[in-house]
Amino acid sequence: MSRAFQRSLLLALLMPTVCIGDADTGEALYAPCIACHGANGEGNASLSSPAIAGQSQDYLVRQLQNFRRGIRGADPADTGAAQMRPMATALVDDAAVAAVAAYVASLEPPTHEAEVSGDAASGSKFYTSRCGACHGGKGEGNDALFAPRLTSLRDSYVVSQVRKFRSGTRGAHADDKYGKQMAIMAKIVTDQELRDIVSFLNEIADR
Ligand code: HEC
Ligand code: HEC
Repeated sequence: MSRAFQRSLLLALLMPTVCIGDADTGEALYAPCIACHGANGEGNASLSSPAIAGQSQDYLVRQLQNFRRGIRGADPADTGAAQMRPMATALVDDAAVAAVAAYVASLEPPTHEAEVSGDAASGSKFYTSRCGACHGGKGEGNDALFAPRLTSLRDSYVVSQVRKFRSGTRGAHADDKYGKQMAIMAKIVTDQELRDIVSFLNEIADR
């Protein structure tokens, strides 16, 4: 177990279970999240914790509630999500979830160094034909279709989540209405196409 990981686990255990529901307290509620997601919500590659800054409040609320209700991350094989679930359940009520999500949504979406190598030119074609209709032409996300922003995410995280959707680790729960839509899409891309798609997303995120 790495030192950084041990430290974040310790911080997670020490997380205060205070009862704050007011929207203005989102920043205070975010304090225990910093250990894994970073002070600016930029994520941490060595902890496999994703960038969450700049994602819409609706999407963030839905994911936090999914973790709380065991709709996301309940698969025992999903060790990444197993770290996140207790953090979501420690948020005392719906008001606390809404407040922390509002704060995270207000943070600037980050960009990242490329980790995955692929062909961005063919990725552009695959993205436009298979992903853009829901996630937006520029990967900016579309709340009306419940699709999150993709350009603020690390390429390795996008790849790992699409694989989770494909294998049923995410998006297979009976109550996961929106995860199910994404799971269908995950099954129609190969790993090579996915590497090309994330290379394209890296390219447009840098602009
Ligand atoms: C111990 C480390 C850790 C802490 C502390 C933590 N998280 Fe997470 N979080 C993760 C990991 C790892 C994932 C990715 C789970 C997966 O692979 O599905 C995640 C995923 C998420 C997601 C889903 C992101 C997406 O793009 O779908 C949200 C939202 C989130 N965390 C919010 C929070 C908030 C808010 C807090 C504080 C209340 C918090 N997290 C605290 C590790 C952590
Ligand atoms: C039919 C609409 C639709 C299409 C097409 C689609 N998605 Fe999605 N995608 C969604 C929805 C809705 C979600 C949110 C699921 C949830 O609430 O958990 C999602 C979630 C995701 C996530 C999780 C992001 C995160 O922060 O954890 C990734 C990654 C993703 N999609 C990648 C892709 C890629 C790559 C493609 C093209 C191969 C694609 N999607 C095509 C609707 C779509």
